[in-house]
Parts: sequence; structure tokens; C-alpha cells
Amino acid sequence: MTSDAPWWKDAVLYELYVRAFRDADGDGHGDLRGVIERLDYVRDLGVDVVWLLPISPSPLRDDGYDVSDFTAIHPDYGDLDDFEALLVAAHERGLKVITDLVLNHTSSDHPWFQASRRRAEGKDDWYVWTDDPQRYADARVIFTDSEASNWTFDEVRGQYYWHRFFHHQPDLNYDNPDVRSAMKDVVRFWLDLGIDGFRLDAIPYLYEREGTNCENLSETHAFLKELRAFIDAIAPDALLLGEVNQWPDDTLPYFGNGFDEMPLLFHFPVMPRVWKALAEGSAEPIRWILDRTPAIPPSCQWVVFLRNHDELTLEMVTDEERAFMYGHYAPEPAMRLNVGIRRRLAPLCDFERPRIELLHSILMTLPGTPIIYYGDEIGMGDDVRLPDRNGVRTPMQWDDGTGAGFSRSERPFAPFPAGSSAPEHVNVAAAERDPDSLLHWMRALIATRKDHPALGGGTFVMLPSPDPALAVFLSTHHDDAVVAVHNLAAAPRRVDLAVPALAGRRLELGFGGRLGPGAEIGLEALAEALPISLGAHGYAWWWLSEATP
Ligand code: BGC
Repeated sequence: MTSDAPWWKDAVLYELYVRAFRDADGDGHGDLRGVIERLDYVRDLGVDVVWLLPISPSPLRDDGYDVSDFTAIHPDYGDLDDFEALLVAAHERGLKVITDLVLNHTSSDHPWFQASRRRAEGKDDWYVWTDDPQRYADARVIFTDSEASNWTFDEVRGQYYWHRFFHHQPDLNYDNPDVRSAMKDVVRFWLDLGIDGFRLDAIPYLYEREGTNCENLSETHAFLKELRAFIDAIAPDALLLGEVNQWPDDTLPYFGNGFDEMPLLFHFPVMPRVWKALAEGSAEPIRWILDRTPAIPPSCQWVVFLRNHDELTLEMVTDEERAFMYGHYAPEPAMRLNVGIRRRLAPLCDFERPRIELLHSILMTLPGTPIIYYGDEIGMGDDVRLPDRNGVRTPMQWDDGTGAGFSRSERPFAPFPAGSSAPEHVNVAAAERDPDSLLHWMRALIATRKDHPALGGGTFVMLPSPDPALAVFLSTHHDDAVVAVHNLAAAPRRVDLAVPALAGRRLELGFGGRLGPGAEIGLEALAEALPISLGAHGYAWWWLSEATP
């Protein structure tokens, strides 16, 4: 069942790191042919869209976010024929494919930068150059663990260049119309190949202006509008997902008027608060941020996630909250990176299934389109001994054989986690065999969500709860309504919950886990007062019953 909203409102996304997914040619690196081999698995999860981390040529000093050629495929991953084959294979299975569009910067290896640093004709000001590294002093450094400044001196040109991320990732100069036009050509190239959309990386930082923090500038919005109009003319149905790691009020303008900028934007600040709510056993952090989340144009959508390929970012929390989160989730220094926590979902939950389920139940009922990070559906672990964010980007664990079904190479590009999360213990094949596995539960969760147009395309409200441990979400869309109740506490809870909006309607308890005494799947109750009885970290979804009262 779907709503009448744009297709991506009812979608579930799967974030997939090509290097880590499946190595078809046996060189130790995952590749596009490998992804094709595993597309049935992805389809069977019930997701609709596969988001591929960057796939273009790159020296890989930032895992491909340092692009050295925007219109080709990294040789480790295959070539453009492989990419087209992937699109065909995905589309045959009803899956869409998007990939990262890194607009803000290139690798310093990119021929554009090489030409610019030599002041080559026409490329002289494609990047942001200066003699004065005191410029734009109000812009923060993002990669605080590795960069001391946003300026780096280039010996070749004898000037400083601007970079919001690593020093090997010089920012493009969007004041230059040739840069804007070159990046539109990149977009056209991928759309012409048949790609279904993009995740637009790091878009708040496209322009710099003195006296500002160089984020969210009006010039940036003007360019994004120009880009959206350009894309609409080629592929009006494209999924465009903007990465804007900002407070909701600063993110809102990126939706534009609903039709002229980004249709989808990550909701960054809700993510750490879901984790904080779990740590505190209280729904209040979730309520706090949702109360501060403005209404968005009905044609647009938030995109929600629990984990991704980066550190669990703590940029959008207070110093006090960050200290609490570090203390709770990252007790060892090796678990911390920049302003965040470099651990995967299952280890952050101490591999405890009730917490993993609860978080995903919240994810699937929050307002927005959810993303699952590859491997989290089987509870994969991490390796905090690996540098940077590599510990959460280890190879997918398909089985317990040599190379874990990821590669026949004896030297996969990264080691598998050891101990209880090693492939012998955590792998897809074992999860397929066990009817009670997390994987089977995830499939049921996703299928249940997709049965309800209210989740995704509907209207969301977080209801007042008689007990602060309970997060109560109501989503409605035409004849569909879902009340989802999540017990953040590590102890049972029992309340009678009034849902005035559904007064007189009959609800049935359709999906849940760790239900308390007296609550059973299939039980019917009058909506005026839902008898809610949840065990520790329990959750229950109620929906309108077809049975007449
Ligand atoms: C990506 C990171 C990357 C950075 C610089 C981010 O938003 O998610 O993985 O390092 O952009 O491109």
C-alpha cells in the first residue's frame, strides 16, 4: 500500500558501501558486479532505494569523498558498463539507485585543482585562493581531529586554498560560473545514464562570505535552486537528498518553497537524541527535538537514520549532552572521532536485541523516510582499532567461510571484526537459517511499515504520554492511522493512553515486541483508552482495525 505522496515518501533506503559489500572479481575490494550479485538480498529486505557511497575515481584519502574524476567509476569498483548493468539489474528488481554527488570539493589530485594551482588559463579561480589565511575566520573547522585550519598553503601556487574538510579536499569556488556549469554537466552525465537521484554531500558550505560562518548562505540556496531547476528539466522524479547537518530551523530553508530546492533532507539532530533517550530511559530528548522541528512543505520529507558511514555526529547537541553521550556510549578514547562516536549500531546497544529492535521501531515510525546502514540489519560489529571511520566500514559478513562470503581473496581490503561479532558468529547465512534472527525481524518490520501509508506519507504527531519513558507517535493518512508506543525504559511500563484523535475508532495491536502482561498481538481495544503494557524496551504499533466496532 502506498500513499498518494511522491514515491520516495513511502520508501525505505539502504546505504551501501560498494568496497565493503561483495567482491566479485576476487581482488579483495568490493565492486559493482558484487553488488549486482547481492541485489536479491537487498530487494528481499524490502527496501526501495540503494544509496551507494562515492563510486568515482579517487585517491581514497576520504573513501571516495575526495573525487578525482566525476564522470567515471573507480577502477576497484569496475567501469561505467558495470554501473549501467547495476542500474538495469536494480530496476528489474524494483530498486532505485542513487549515489553521492560531492559538490563542495574535489580531491587535490583532480585535474581541475592541478590546473588551478598552476594558474592554468580558465582554471585560475576554480578554487578559493588567498594570500591571507585570516579570511573567513568565523567558519568552524569540521574535522577537528585532523585539521587545524580551513586554509592550507600550496607551495606550487604560493597561496592558501580553502577547504571545509580534509586539506586534500579543496573547496570549489561556486562564485565562478564555469564551476557551476561544470558541476551541472556532472549531474547531467549521471542522469543520462539512468541514475535515480543523488545524495548531495555537504551542501551548506558551497559559498564563503566574510563576516559569516560560511554556512547556509543565500548564495548557496540560490545555486541549489538553479541546480534543482536543471535537474527537474531532465529527471523531475529524481530523489535528491541533501546532507545538511544543521539545526532544523537552519535546515528548513533548504526545502525552499517545497518545489524549488531539496525535496529530502536528513534530520540530523533527531538522531543523537534517539540514542540519548535510550541511554536515559526517557522519551524527553525525542520530544524536545521534535518540538523544535518546524513543519515542512507537504511535498518534502525528512530522512531519518540511526547510524551511517560516518561517526555518530554530536555536532547538534549541547556540550553537556555530548559529555553524557561520550560517557555512556564511548567510554574509550578510541571510540571517539572529531565531534562524534565511531561505533556501529549493534555494539552501541551492547549487542542486546531488545535495544536494537526498539531503536529500529522508533526509526520506522518517526516522521520521515528511514535509512538502514548495510550490516546493521544483521547486527554487525565494528573495529575501533582501525583509523578514521574505517571501523564502521568493514566487509559485509555473508557467511562463516573464508572471506565471510565477501571475497575469495586472502587479503580483503579491511579485517573483519573479531570476537563475538566475527563472521563465525554474525553472518547473513546463519541469520537466514534462524527464523528468530534480527534479519527476519527487520524484514517483517520493513514490510509492516510499508503496509501503512500513514508511516512515511502521513501526518505525524508525538502525543503527550502519561509516562515520560514512553514515546507515543501518531501517524495518519486518509483511512490509515498508526499509534506506535516505545518504552525507552529498561523496566516494564503500564498505562492507559487516551488518543482523542481516534476517539470512537477501534484499534488493533498489530506489531510489537516485549509486550507486557495483558497485551497480545491481534487484541482489539477501544481507542479512547489504549491499555498499554510494555516490558523493558518493549514497543507496540496499533492501527485502525477493519473490524466494525
Ligand atoms: C561525508 C563524509 C565525508 C565528508 C567530506 C560528509 O558529509 O558523509 O564521509 O568525509 O562529507 O566529503
